[in-house]
Amino acid sequence: MKKLLIINASVRGERSYSRMLTQLFIDNWKSRYPEDRFTLREIGLEVIPAIDEKWIAGAFLKSEDKNAENQAALQFSNELVRELKEHDIYVIGTPMYNWSIPSGLKSYIDQVMRINETWKFRSGKPDGDYIGLLENKKMYILSSRGDTGYGKHEKNESMNFQTSYLQFVFGMMGVKDVSTISLDNEEFGGEIFEKSKQEIFQVINAIG
Ligand SMILES: Cc1cc2nc3c(=O)[nH]c(=O)nc-3n(C[C@H](O)[C@H](O)[C@H](O)COP(=O)(O)O)c2cc1C
Repeated sequence: MKKLLIINASVRGERSYSRMLTQLFIDNWKSRYPEDRFTLREIGLEVIPAIDEKWIAGAFLKSEDKNAENQAALQFSNELVRELKEHDIYVIGTPMYNWSIPSGLKSYIDQVMRINETWKFRSGKPDGDYIGLLENKKMYILSSRGDTGYGKHEKNESMNFQTSYLQFVFGMMGVKDVSTISLDNEEFGGEIFEKSKQEIFQVINAIG
């Protein structure tokens, strides 16, 4: 039995295409692996607090040196980190906003990028050599974008700070097995978007 963590980042509700992709993913996965379990983590319609000075003060102290205030500042972060550790497969549904990710997803990443919890320095010193601590995880990035051409060797590749950033930052936490599926052309609508949808739906339905 595997545990899947579904993370939805769009600030849109029913009109969101990235949510449509995560729902399609869930339906397909359930039909193949009915014994698997899902947890939903909402980070688009609910506010994920930005990290602040108290958070930073607490995160960089050893556990034995943390006082009650430091611990309180990290409580929500601890919950999110525990959730990541407890799940086997992460499914992130996210829009591209301004060539990058929604601010809620950035706040989420800031909350879970925790030294000695999800990553550490190999030598114990800041020397650019990092070890990710989330081991044996699989991640699916299901993204939705208005434009297109953001893939490898495509014309807008250099503008893609969305899937490339997510792949990089989760890689730093040890998540190396990542599949990225992107629904493009939402802004164009019509036939061109219909074609993109049908292609991506087929890709998602073939997962598993
Ligand atoms: C604030 C905002 C910024 C956006 N920026 C981009 C962008 O930089 N590149 C792009 O291709 N699409 C952009 N889009 C289009 C969205 O990526 C697209 O509408 C996507 O389907 C939104 O995800 P959702 O349907 O899950 O809400 C933007 C949309 C919004 C609302």
